[in-house]
Amino acid sequence: MTKCNDEMPANKSSNRPFESVLTAEVNRRRVLRGGAAGAAAFMASGAAVVATAQPAAAQASGVVGAFDAIPTSKADKIVVPKGYVAQPMIPWGTPIVPSGPAFKQDATNTAAEQEEQLGMGHDGIFYFPLGANRDSSTNGLLALNHEYTVTEQLFADGKEDWDDEKTKKEQAAHGVSVVEVKEGGDGNWSNVESDHARRIHVNGPAMQFTGPAAGHRLLQTDADPSGEAPVGTLNNCGNGYTPWGTYLTTEENFNGYFWEETEGAADAITEEQAGMNARYGVAAQGFGYQWASTDDRFRADLTPQEPNRFGWMVEIDPYDPDSVPMKHTALGRFKHEGAAFATAANGAAVVYMGDDQRFDYIYKFVGAKDWKSEAAAGRSPLAEGTLYVARFDEGSAGEWLPLVAGEGDLTEDKGFADQGDVLIKARMAADVVGATPMDRPEWTTVHPTTGEVFVTLTNNARREEPNVANPRADNPWGHIIKWTDAGNDAAATSFTWDFFLLAGPGDGADGSTIDAEDLFGSPDGLWIDPNGRMWIQTDGAQPDESNNQMLLADPASGEIKRFLTGPVDCEVTGVTSTPDGKTIFVNIQHPGDSGLAGNPTETSTWPDGPGVAQRPRAATVAVRRIDGGVVGADPSELVVAGTGEANLASTGPDDTTLKLGVAGAVAIGAGAHLLAFRDRLKREQ
Ligand code: FEO
Ligand code: CA
Ligand code: CA
Repeated sequence: MTKCNDEMPANKSSNRPFESVLTAEVNRRRVLRGGAAGAAAFMASGAAVVATAQPAAAQASGVVGAFDAIPTSKADKIVVPKGYVAQPMIPWGTPIVPSGPAFKQDATNTAAEQEEQLGMGHDGIFYFPLGANRDSSTNGLLALNHEYTVTEQLFADGKEDWDDEKTKKEQAAHGVSVVEVKEGGDGNWSNVESDHARRIHVNGPAMQFTGPAAGHRLLQTDADPSGEAPVGTLNNCGNGYTPWGTYLTTEENFNGYFWEETEGAADAITEEQAGMNARYGVAAQGFGYQWASTDDRFRADLTPQEPNRFGWMVEIDPYDPDSVPMKHTALGRFKHEGAAFATAANGAAVVYMGDDQRFDYIYKFVGAKDWKSEAAAGRSPLAEGTLYVARFDEGSAGEWLPLVAGEGDLTEDKGFADQGDVLIKARMAADVVGATPMDRPEWTTVHPTTGEVFVTLTNNARREEPNVANPRADNPWGHIIKWTDAGNDAAATSFTWDFFLLAGPGDGADGSTIDAEDLFGSPDGLWIDPNGRMWIQTDGAQPDESNNQMLLADPASGEIKRFLTGPVDCEVTGVTSTPDGKTIFVNIQHPGDSGLAGNPTETSTWPDGPGVAQRPRAATVAVRRIDGGVVGADPSELVVAGTGEANLASTGPDDTTLKLGVAGAVAIGAGAHLLAFRDRLKREQ
């Protein structure tokens, strides 16, 4: 299991709906597969859910192209369908500009060098186009997360002889990178010298809290008495992007880096803080990281409120390397995973978010005002708004429960004296209002035309009581849920929901609703691209013990095809596309992480090997079609090499190539709003 997967079920609240609800629900509910005609009925049998009918074969839709799906793999390489090529690029240790310090295969790069190199643990990623109109599909910025480090790979001697240099190198290998990449005319991508290149990591830069909790008593430390300027970011997992052209990076398992040392801790840690630490999993020795042995910031007894300064949604402007990243307290503090953006009917920004812990919740933020006017005024539209948490009910109904101090039971005597309390203790506020405990909510994504929202529930091997939206106990394979907010307005406070699929071995085994040839488990990364193609990425055990993978699905029909398989021990996480859809970038995290420090190549040498001491490295993979067409698309969208852009308009009524170009440019939105936003920020700095 990866360090990303926090083993501690921290939710001790009693929000555990109920066998009676479950039984009624699963008997009634039909799982979407193959459109309206393709449905599988379920019934509960004790704690298990058993498929009693198989879905009709999904109809070929054109959303999922006519390529041949690939089989599962146990090989130490990337496999993509015939007709595609996959190019590994910018692995851990690559200098963010070519003139920077070169990676040393013996892992002897210093902490200072690591600060100028790509970090480890590639995760969420987004392509921001450059070019005069900021719409280039051959030159852009890749902003990507480095979630966590494999210490045995980062140092030749692993955890031995730990010192402050090791702490600082490991901290520098976390965070976010911004690199400029170009396609060289031959289809191959490389990173280039760039003023935009930037590293953001645990020790910098100083950031800015926004929103109701900025400056709150619980965010103040001796180093920052203002409580407004946290330093760095940590455990950056899923991601998101905004239409005003910024990157959202999410802080997930921040708790695992802190030591709550026992000696003296009882004196330093207040009862209130101890309660928060318990709910967020800040514990005696964390996940085994050694930082606290040399860096008091990660001693939760010495700097007891420092953990409160992580677990936030961070906004970064990749186009301005001097911009100050913002931690938006209005989006709540939890183990953030993913950020899917939508625009409400009134023009407000909406962000859907998962909290990846067993029995934790799904949230959404609704901005206070029209995002375009906020961005034009130089304010982030994510600074002010309302946070909601989801309750899934019987009969496909659901409610977004507002987390507002003074409303309902969110009162001072329960620990919520002000909105800062609610946001800093968002999990505890969500417990109080009765949110539905889920099977580890990971990524969210919004369909670009239907407005449907999808979320991966990756797995939950400790669920003993199914509930209405988490029907399997235990749930080793995970599932995907979808919902539509009332009136298709992302600001609505109710929604209707359904299952999209239950993963697993397929053909009904273990309650799975997919075909056996499409088997997968532990869905995690999830993205519906501007053409409506759903990319499902896995992180965890696969039903046939094969490597982690990425599948392409049609959100409407449920049709699935396996598109990519990763190297040994990796997870596949993070996917983005150029505006023309002809290159997608996919991240491969922690290949070969079961190898020991003394033998790092024991299970994998990807992407550099096989060879002498080619230690495995997280990396990005650029995937293209050999014929130059849109990745994942039908042959009807085939673009003959050398065909001019103008000819793309004649590819027929199903011209998703053209739509992607337009939608991508609009989504990235380097328009008047963005420019005004940037100008204003610059003036204020
Ligand atoms: Fe870092 Fe929940 O995946
Ligand atoms: Ca993840
Ligand atoms: Ca995961």
